[in-house]
This record gives sequence, C-alpha cells and structure tokens, in this order.
Amino acid sequence: MDNDRLLRELTDFLRIPSVSTSPTHNADCRAAGEWVAGELRRLGCREVQFLASGTHPVVWGVGPEVPGAPTLLIYGHYDVQPPDPLDEWTTPPFEPTVRDGKLFARGAADDKGQVFCLLKAIEAGGDRPPVNFRFLIEGEEEYGSRVLFELLRREPERTRADAVLIADMAYIAPRWPAVYTTLRGLCYAEITVRTAKSDLHSGEFGGAAPNAHEELVRLLDRLKTPDGKIHVPGLYSAVRRPAKAELATWRSLPFKESDFLRHRVQAKALTGLKAYSVLERLWALPTFEIHGITGGFTGDGAKTVIPAAATAKVSLRLVPDQKLKTVERQLAAAVKRFAPRYVQASVTFLHGADPATVKVTHPAFALLDQAFREVVGRGTIPARAGGSIPVVPALGRGGAPVILTGIGLPDDRLHAPNEKLDLKQLWDGIRVFRRFYELLGFKGA
Ligand code: BES
Ligand code: MN
Ligand code: MN
Repeated sequence: MDNDRLLRELTDFLRIPSVSTSPTHNADCRAAGEWVAGELRRLGCREVQFLASGTHPVVWGVGPEVPGAPTLLIYGHYDVQPPDPLDEWTTPPFEPTVRDGKLFARGAADDKGQVFCLLKAIEAGGDRPPVNFRFLIEGEEEYGSRVLFELLRREPERTRADAVLIADMAYIAPRWPAVYTTLRGLCYAEITVRTAKSDLHSGEFGGAAPNAHEELVRLLDRLKTPDGKIHVPGLYSAVRRPAKAELATWRSLPFKESDFLRHRVQAKALTGLKAYSVLERLWALPTFEIHGITGGFTGDGAKTVIPAAATAKVSLRLVPDQKLKTVERQLAAAVKRFAPRYVQASVTFLHGADPATVKVTHPAFALLDQAFREVVGRGTIPARAGGSIPVVPALGRGGAPVILTGIGLPDDRLHAPNEKLDLKQLWDGIRVFRRFYELLGFKGA
C-alpha cells in the first residue's frame, strides 16, 4: 500500500468543509459529493449518480457486475458536523494535520476517514474481490437524512443486497473491534417560550413582567431532575431493560467507569440515573439534553432588558422499542403541561430517527469477525451504541443484515474540537475490509 498517496488523497477529501446543517456550506457539500463520485468512477462503477437533492446529493454507485457473486451495499456519509468552537482546535478543522500518528480534522473519523477506508479496501492488494458492490454515500446524515429517507421510501429496491456494511463507529477499546446490535434513536427539537409582545426595560417593568428566559429555565428544569430522571409523561413506558445475560456480558467488556470519567468525559463526576451502570445509561436508556439556549441579550457588555422570547435546542435519545413519532407527541404534551398559562410555549421538531436493532447471527458477521481476527488479532465483540444513524432501520427493511462496525477509537472526539483518526486504525482497517470482501466474495454470504 502506498500510504503517502492514500494520506494525500484523504487529506483532499477532509479539506472540504461539508457541514450539512449550514446553508453557507451547500457548495462544499456538493464538492464532497463530487469527490466521492470521482472515487466511485475510479473504482470502475458502471453507474454513478447524484440522487434526490441538488445541494446534499446522495451519491449512488453500482460497481462492475460479477455474475453469481454476492451483493454488498456500502453506506456512509460525506457530511460533517459544524467545527466550532474553532479556537479550541490545535490546528484548523479543515487543514488536516498529522501529529503523533494521528490525523486531526473534522470528519477524520466521522465519517469521511471511514468511507475512505471502505473504498480504498476494494483495490488494496490488487484485483477487485468478486463482490457486486453498491454504494449509497449521503450528505445529510448529521442533519437527519431527510433526503435519503424520502429516496428509500420511493425506491426501496436500492437496498436490495446480501449485506449492508456501515463503518461509522469505533472499536469499544483499543485493540477491541466491535459490531453493534443497537443504535439509539433521536428526537431533536426547539422549545420556544414567549412571554410578551416585545422585550421590556428591566427597570420600568422588572418585578412585575414575566421573563422568557426565566420561564424557559423553569420549564426545562421540570423536564429533567438532577437525579437524571426525565419527566416526559409516558417516556419510559416502552423502555425495556436488557436481558440479564446481556448486562452480564457488558460487565466483562474492557470498560471502566472511573477511566471513562477521568480520560473521556474529563469532568469531576458522572451524572444520570445512579441505579444503572454507566453502559446501561449510555446504551439502553433514553436521554434529554439541552444543546443551547438563545434569546435575550448575549452580546458583549451589558444591556438591561427583559427578554420576551427564549429558545432551547434540545434532544432526546431513544432506545429500542421507543418510537420517534410517539416521543414527539409526548414531548409536545409535556411542554404544554409544564408551561404556566401566561406563557406561550411551542415545540418545533427539526429532525429525528427511530432506534435500530440488528441481529448479528447472519453468516456475514462471522466473515467480518474472521477478517478482524486475522488482521488485528481479535474478533468483533457485540456491543450497543449510544449514537444514532437515522437510515439504519430503512436500510435493513429489505431483509439484508446491516453490519454496523468501525475503525475509530473511543477517544476520537466526534463532533468536538480536535477530532482525529489514528492512522494505524486506518491502515489496519483497509486490510480488514479488504479481507472481509475477499471472504464474502469467495465464500459467499
Ligand atoms: N457516526 C455517528 C453515529 C455514532 C457515533 C454511532 C458514535 C455510534 C457511536 C453519526 O455520524 C452521528 O453523529 N449521528 C448523529 C445523528 C443525528 C444528527 C440525527 C447523532 O448521533 O447525533
Ligand atoms: Mn457518522
Ligand atoms: Mn456524526
């Protein structure tokens, strides 16, 4: 493998600031889609198309036909999360830089570096393995995948395959590759509170007029108490505890709550429902998070004003058996119920995803396990994931097993400053997936 050339090519891909949530980056998202399309053409795809959206197109590719060989659908995303806060990056997010064997850039691990890994594995070590490759690489994953959902609803035959492969997650610990059996879902919303027609002088009116920020804070406080309990009525009714046997396997994973606090969270304490282990809180329980609050005066200096409106961006993570549509209704009802009569409270839903459950018994999982075993010396351990990939349930609807795996490490800092990918993980990953394609092609699934 020519690692220098590969690194240069990945760097070109990472340099494109394809932030899907912000319209000022529409042209960049397009450019990242073009980059993917170029790679697919180079791999000899007969058909490379931009589907469904002009701004954040889904890139579709059909590899060279190999009669009788199994079909593998590769899914990934070329969009990234916003890079801010910018001044916390040691080197700028879209100027990929190698330090200490790690490549730092937004998207290095999530997911451009991993898409790159899956694509480069196809031709690593000579001829293409006998597999009918299909590609669905989208540009809206970090923004809820609306366009791809629509596309798969209209054209479900795109997911027809013997297996679907997704590398958009991490090993559970260094040297411990994983396959994931569940993903959490997501319900992302804005809660807005309005208390008056417009902002008011806090001297003239303070003491007698309602304050939107104060009302919003009280409302949020009612939605989740300090013990970690979420007070959205009905929210927990669909939540099932994992079986004893599964919880027991989690206790044998290379995961220590104290290390998680010290090295990964890097805070003074962990929070949440103390009656449950940290892994259960991360993998099998719903969450409620406040992402940001706007409104009132937040500029430099001081201004004495009573804000008339305030908005909180919030999200809930959902676990298997919860339904996005139900949780949306439950959250809207809770907001209505907890807001005092004299405030106008509203909820707008921005995007979301149902949780996903994957059975890892299909023979294709054994092939991936073997590939990891041969290349990195340990097979894939089944685990759950706290994050979400909205289209996973839709990708599995045609009956193909959806293999959720990845080459990242737990300390890659996804969505945060100084996101990175260890280059050793990338080089190993290319060999792992190459081996997986060979096993799939020669043994079949
Ligand atoms: N690759 C992540 C999902 C992920 C991260 C799964 C870590 C398992 C472990 C994906 O790109 C992601 O961040 N998804 C968003 C989806 C959302 C914006 C709809 C997420 O989970 O916040
Ligand atoms: Mn991702
Ligand atoms: Mn992400």
